[in-house]
Amino acid sequence: MLSASANERLTHIGPGTPAGNLLRRYWQPICASSELSEAKPTKPVTVMGESLVVFRDGSGNYGCLAERCAHRGCSLAYGFIEEDGLRCPYHGWKYSVDGKCLEQPFEGKASRYKEKIRQLSYPVERLGGLLFVYMGPSPAPLLPRWDVLVRSDGAHKLRIHPVLNCNWFQAQENSVDTVHTHFLHGQMMKRKGLSGGEYYLRPIESYGFELSEWGIVKWREFGGDKPEREKGHPAVFPNMLRVPEGPWHAFHWRVPIDDYHTQIFWAGFLPGEPIGNTLDDPPVVILPSFKDEDGIYLLDSFQSQDTMAWESEGPLFDRTREHLGASDRGIALWRKLMLDQIEVVENGGEPMALLRDPSKNTLITFDVSEGQARNEFVEVREDYYAMESDVIK
Ligand code: FES
Ligand SMILES: [Fe+2]
Repeated sequence: MLSASANERLTHIGPGTPAGNLLRRYWQPICASSELSEAKPTKPVTVMGESLVVFRDGSGNYGCLAERCAHRGCSLAYGFIEEDGLRCPYHGWKYSVDGKCLEQPFEGKASRYKEKIRQLSYPVERLGGLLFVYMGPSPAPLLPRWDVLVRSDGAHKLRIHPVLNCNWFQAQENSVDTVHTHFLHGQMMKRKGLSGGEYYLRPIESYGFELSEWGIVKWREFGGDKPEREKGHPAVFPNMLRVPEGPWHAFHWRVPIDDYHTQIFWAGFLPGEPIGNTLDDPPVVILPSFKDEDGIYLLDSFQSQDTMAWESEGPLFDRTREHLGASDRGIALWRKLMLDQIEVVENGGEPMALLRDPSKNTLITFDVSEGQARNEFVEVREDYYAMESDVIK
């Protein structure tokens, strides 16, 4: 159980909110680069409660501007692409990718008014077929070159989920929810007569969590006929997950649209022979709805099952009403990590998992091999137990 104020602190992401200020320190994917084309050169996107427009100018530079024109608020998503910027369709004010107002056709040739105008702009970078935006204070950290996005020895694919109708933190908490896979995926598949969940039906002998440079690695040991220690799954701070098993190595981002909606991006890498130029231009799968025509969740895939679990908690789960158990200790740890890092930012510090040294940003891999130290993230856990000892058994 959390207090209402802690719940709000962790979940609200609008400009100036504690979690919003923290999340703005990290590059966030906003769309696939192939979603911008000559026919559709702009795309309106809402990220962390801010209405934005992403575009590519005629010289090939990517830009991200506040959607509403600084003049009188018309949407720049309907604007005209020009060599050096984006022109508002209403009265023709033109903006460069960095938000400078370049022209105001009806203000007179001698007018210097445009020098006073600045359209809010955010830097954009392209990597692995995704466009990322940085919405925090300057200087921006480096955009991390996650292995899944940049390895050249295999094939790449992107998936864009339908909008998730709930707060981002409900999805992110799931990244450290080790045991849900047994019921939500293993049992659900079995009870529906589908294959694919057997792996998770094995008894879980033990599991734990370790603090890492990038977040928390969760590990799990299965018993039964085929005892196995699984590779660790890194939950990457603050809103990502790296899944190292299965044929596809995957990376998930849970990008808040606003407090009640989330955009999930998935990037997959299949080691082996490269297939075409999927490194720069991966195929993009826009996933269809996880519900049937009556609005009932299909529950026939892990994504549909997870979506049901997250959305059915409500648009923004009221954590004052929850009852955490011992098996929720990963969730308690993630919350603690978030609250600590929110405080770091509030005190003017640099939060964890930011990269500024280019020599460390060639290829970011995760050490998830067996034999990893097993000691759990004891101080934080005990600290959290002390905070919430009445609810964690
Ligand atoms: S509202 Fe954009 S130019 Fe007038
Ligand atoms: Fe899941």
